[in-house]
Amino acid sequence: MILHLSTWPEIEAQLRRSRTIVIPIGSTEQHGPTGLLGTDWLCPEIIAHRAQASCAGILVGPTFNIGMAQHHLGFPGTISLRPSTMILALRDWVASLSLHGFEKIYFLNGHGGNIPTIEAAFSEIYAEASYVRHRAGLALILRNWWQLPGVEALARRQFPRGHGSHAEPSEIAVTQAVYPDSIKIAECKPRIAPTGPIRDAVDFRARHPDGRMGSNPLQATAGHGEELIALAAEGLAAEVERLAAATGRG
Ligand code: NI
Repeated sequence: MILHLSTWPEIEAQLRRSRTIVIPIGSTEQHGPTGLLGTDWLCPEIIAHRAQASCAGILVGPTFNIGMAQHHLGFPGTISLRPSTMILALRDWVASLSLHGFEKIYFLNGHGGNIPTIEAAFSEIYAEASYVRHRAGLALILRNWWQLPGVEALARRQFPRGHGSHAEPSEIAVTQAVYPDSIKIAECKPRIAPTGPIRDAVDFRARHPDGRMGSNPLQATAGHGEELIALAAEGLAAEVERLAAATGRG
């Protein structure tokens, strides 16, 4: 079930069955010469939508598709929220969902750079309840799609060299499987990109002139992507079902 393809009476009825929702979350940022700008939100969205298609009880909310990507702002098309802005936006998303009764909010993340900010947002949300000695009544979960069971191991088997840490062949393969008309071809020199620290946008572009970090994305194929999507969606469905069942009403 997908929230934005449902009506409010359908969501009201769903809330009588389950208090759990999955929110794909990512970033709109450069992904090297061949990676789509939407890669980091497309991947969790693709996986969450696949999971709900095979598992009728899972509700997926709209994708939070702009993240904390300040270090990619040296490349056109990147759109970033400051950490402070993103924390405020996440507080309002969660407050809106909890107002209607959602209690377990599972964020499926596609961008490593979001992790500290999402964790800070969770702390802010819990702190609001703690200072007034109320129960937040919420369980907030952050899960990176590549850390779903078996997914990292599969990506290592698929791409033993040049996987890297940005514009990786695994994430690009996931987008290729679902958006074959948007597969891009470009040269990548050197074949495996340099690695380095993450600082500001000017520094990032100087160290990583084409946007890649340690990766050779030309290895990606739609077939690799389909394997990753199937495994990740299966793991996600199992985790969300366990979460929903954990204390009686999910
Ligand atoms: Ni990415």
